[in-house]
Order: sequence, then C-alpha cells, then structure tokens
Amino acid sequence: MNNLSRKIFRLTRPLFFASILFAGCSKSLTTNTDSLYVPVAADATPNATLADLQTGRTIFINSCGRCHNLYSPDSYSASNWKSIIPTMAPRAGLSSANTILVTKYVTKGN
Ligand code: HEC
Repeated sequence: MNNLSRKIFRLTRPLFFASILFAGCSKSLTTNTDSLYVPVAADATPNATLADLQTGRTIFINSCGRCHNLYSPDSYSASNWKSIIPTMAPRAGLSSANTILVTKYVTKGN
C-alpha cells in the first residue's frame, strides 16, 4: 500500500463504523467519495464558480463525514440543504467562508 491509500484507509475507517451506527437511515449515505457529484465547468452558475464547487466538494468530504457517512448532494433539494447546513456547519466547525463553499457544492451552485 502506498502512503496515499494508507491515508485514505485511515480516514475512511471511522466512516465505516459510522455506517453501522446510522444503518437505519434511508437517505443515500456513502463512504465512496468517487460516487459524490463531481462539478464540471458547465456546472458553474452566477452564484458559484467551478473552483467554488470543487473547493466546496473537498471541504464537504473532509468535514461532513466525521459523525455519519456522507450524504450525497443528490439526497436533498437545494432548499432542504439550505435549512440543514446551518445546523451541520457549526457541528463540523466550519468557518463562514467554508460554510458558503459547502453550501454551493451541495446545492450545485443554486
Ligand atoms: C459533530 C457531528 C456531525 C458533523 C461534523 C456533521 N454532522 Fe450531519 N448530522 C449529525 C447528526 C447527529 C445527525 C442526525 C440528525 C440531527 O441531529 O439533526 C446529522 C444529520 C445530518 C443530515 C440529515 C438531516 C435530515 O434532516 O435528514 C444531513 C443531510 C447532514 N447531517 C449533513 C451534514 C453535512 C453537510 C455536514 C458538514 C457540513 C455534517 N452533516 C457534519 C452530526 C454531524
């Protein structure tokens, strides 16, 4: 195993145990970050550049899977996300700038 895969294994192990804890949830929860929406240039909106969406994705992956597996952005509408993020961002200890980027990512720039 190279260093990166060792690191990924170490980072994802808690997610695996969290998946057992939250196995009762019906929403799309995942430890497979490849399956999460990957922004492309055409996804940029007046509200979010491609770089915003990409940075938001990284913050989301690094911060939002500590207590439960990652909820796919596709699991909720943009307006649902906008009511969920204000509860979750403080739990994840996000700065206001990073909260904005995560919001842009999960709402796909809406
Ligand atoms: C400190 C632990 C913790 C962190 C970090 C955390 N969450 Fe949560 N999350 C929870 C708990 C506990 C619940 C269960 C429901 C509740 O308490 O609201 C939850 C529930 C959720 C739900 C389901 C809400 C619903 O109404 O169905 C979503 C979506 C979610 N979290 C997204 C996120 C996102 C996005 C982040 C990163 C910004 C994040 N969470 C970070 C603890 C956390």
